[in-house]
Amino acid sequence: MTKARLFSGMQPSADSLQIGNYIGALMQWRDMQDAYDAFFAVVDLHAITVPQDAAQLRDKTRRTAAQYIAAGIEPDKSTLYVQSQVPAHAELAWILSTLTGFGEAQRMTQFKDKSQRYGADSSSVGLFTYPVLMAADILLYQTKVVPVGDDQKQHVELTRTLAERFNSRFGETFQVPDPVIQKETARIYDLQAPTSKMSKSAESQAGVLYLLDDINVTAKKIMRAVTDNDGTVRYDREAKPGVANLLTIYAALTGRTVESIEDEYAGRGYGDFKKGLRDVVVAEFEPVRARALELLEDPAELDRALAQNADRASEAAEETLAAVYERVGLLRRG
Ligand code: TRP
Repeated sequence: MTKARLFSGMQPSADSLQIGNYIGALMQWRDMQDAYDAFFAVVDLHAITVPQDAAQLRDKTRRTAAQYIAAGIEPDKSTLYVQSQVPAHAELAWILSTLTGFGEAQRMTQFKDKSQRYGADSSSVGLFTYPVLMAADILLYQTKVVPVGDDQKQHVELTRTLAERFNSRFGETFQVPDPVIQKETARIYDLQAPTSKMSKSAESQAGVLYLLDDINVTAKKIMRAVTDNDGTVRYDREAKPGVANLLTIYAALTGRTVESIEDEYAGRGYGDFKKGLRDVVVAEFEPVRARALELLEDPAELDRALAQNADRASEAAEETLAAVYERVGLLRRG
């Protein structure tokens, strides 16, 4: 039986991924790559919807890809590639944009938030059509399953709408995909401000754990994480957000239940608990970090692996694109 297609992507927006990306995306992708025919893209065309420095963008793209591989996404098993290396993404995005209502795109809450933040004249048209490019990413591969965070759910809904619209206007062409939304239990908060989502744009970096940070820095950040005065290791998201967040990380990285961790640390202080968590995080991050840095030492080899995977992606994408051209009435070059 052929495996169902899975597609997901991440922007090359930082030098290092943080633990939220690791738990919320990479670990899940790694676990899903056997059951699905998985495609994972570093979505650099999405990244340029806001201004980027060219040299830094290239570096972040390689770094993001290296961290995917180091975390266990296998380029011989999954198709792991850079979005801009497969031109079909941009080509299909154009066609889908002609089927997208202006008002429909205006209702995307992420665009509304971002354009409010940057102002109308500093918001590019590319930022506006970002969700259409995302729809193209997904639909090109006849994707069945799209694992994403909660914030991307609306974009996957738009993708479904566009697939259905195209299919009913031009005939069955696209698989209509289903979002798989990341569990609330996989949501990671800032160690210093545990009611805000952990984010690299946080004012203080003391509460953000990066995969590629020096491991001693990571250990220190954990030991200094904000807790509370209650002194018991117990999961209570409302009353004890700091401890709840640390428990979430502990459980996610070990695959254990929160209850078993609460039991282990019953009657013991936060110091013990943090040391336990520190050891868990260090054991998890150390090999991933080492592997990522090793991959980055040979960028030519990394680029070769990515190019090979882009060829594989192109082959699958061109099949869909040919069908789309045919249905829409674009004259294929003979
Ligand atoms: N917009 C997604 C994010 O910021 C990244 C992305 C681009 C994506 N294309 C995708 C995710 C296709 C899933 C499927 O998280």
